[in-house]
Amino acid sequence: MRVSFCCTDTKAEPWLQGLKAALPGADIQLWQPGAQAEPADYAVVWAPPQAFFDSQPHLKGIFNIGAGVDALMKLSLPKGVPVVRLDDAGMSVQMAEYVCHAVIRHFREFDVYDEELRAARWAFRKPRRRAELPVGVMGLGVLGERVARSLLQFDFPVMGWSRTPKAIDGVQGFAGEAQFDAFLRASRVLVCLLPLTPQTQGIMRRVTLSLLQPGGYVINVARGAHLVDEDLIALLDEGHLAGAMLDVFRTEPLPSEHPFWRHPRITVTPHTSARTLRDESIVQIAGKITAMEHGEPIAGIVDGSRGY
Ligand SMILES: NC(=O)c1ccc[n+]([C@@H]2O[C@H](COP(=O)([O-])OP(=O)(O)OC[C@H]3O[C@@H](n4cnc5c(N)ncnc54)[C@H](OP(=O)(O)O)[C@@H]3O)[C@@H](O)[C@H]2O)c1
Repeated sequence: MRVSFCCTDTKAEPWLQGLKAALPGADIQLWQPGAQAEPADYAVVWAPPQAFFDSQPHLKGIFNIGAGVDALMKLSLPKGVPVVRLDDAGMSVQMAEYVCHAVIRHFREFDVYDEELRAARWAFRKPRRRAELPVGVMGLGVLGERVARSLLQFDFPVMGWSRTPKAIDGVQGFAGEAQFDAFLRASRVLVCLLPLTPQTQGIMRRVTLSLLQPGGYVINVARGAHLVDEDLIALLDEGHLAGAMLDVFRTEPLPSEHPFWRHPRITVTPHTSARTLRDESIVQIAGKITAMEHGEPIAGIVDGSRGY
């Protein structure tokens, strides 16, 4: 069995070593543009070029080392070959940390205390009512469900929105387009954990963000193209929104001249909310390749018609 590794922006050597250790007997190869490629059975990829798939006609499975497959789905992939996303692999706990941090920082006004600290000023903020900060989580998949459950631990009212109805204890569920406006109207904080598909592109724009309760707060940890940047800035400047914490952007790295960097009520992080953890990912991918070789079913296969 041969596995070809093609991941841009990733140090290949530790992955190759890890895959060799996890799949003894397999021939693990690094794909390099222009070099004669040996036909592989499985591909392990992140942001591969089209040339990679053009050089690999015999694949039985494509493993993406991330949860989001939007970039991969834009390529012309070999027909009928399963595309497999990372299924948590240590990402959901990171996402829960990030989102709980963002919600709590906003709710407890720790950004204001940061400023007081710099001025050596001892001043209490008036406690806010938790019930007045309902949090809406868009996307209740592997990551969104973990985030919603984690927020419940802090007694925030939590709403969830998904394509198909989901029952999560303690989370008020909304589903489909028909219930989208009601979901937004019920939320003051909006967390985006949707996959990027034609249906979700630009989903956070003036008309939708305006439905959030006044003083809304936006947390985007999914993809930059879910958000219309100018609309967010306008709603912040008009006072309808109180702030935003953004981890993902239409162009990454976020260009230094982008207004998000300097907006006083936007916090920017460099696409770091849930990093791919190499060891966990290798164990998961190797386990799935082994299962496929034994003809066993695996979880995490992307549905091409849904795009996630
Ligand atoms: N910032 C980072 O570091 C980072 C890291 C990892 C992932 N991500 C992003 O997070 C996204 C979510 O990951 P995941 O593993 O939780 O995905 P997932 O398990 O595929 O879950 C996706 C959720 O979104 C819902 N959904 C999809 N299309 C929808 C639509 N049109 N309307 C309403 N709901 C819709 C799905 O509804 P159903 O339940 O009905 O299918 C599901 O609940 C990824 O696609 C990726 O873009 C970001």
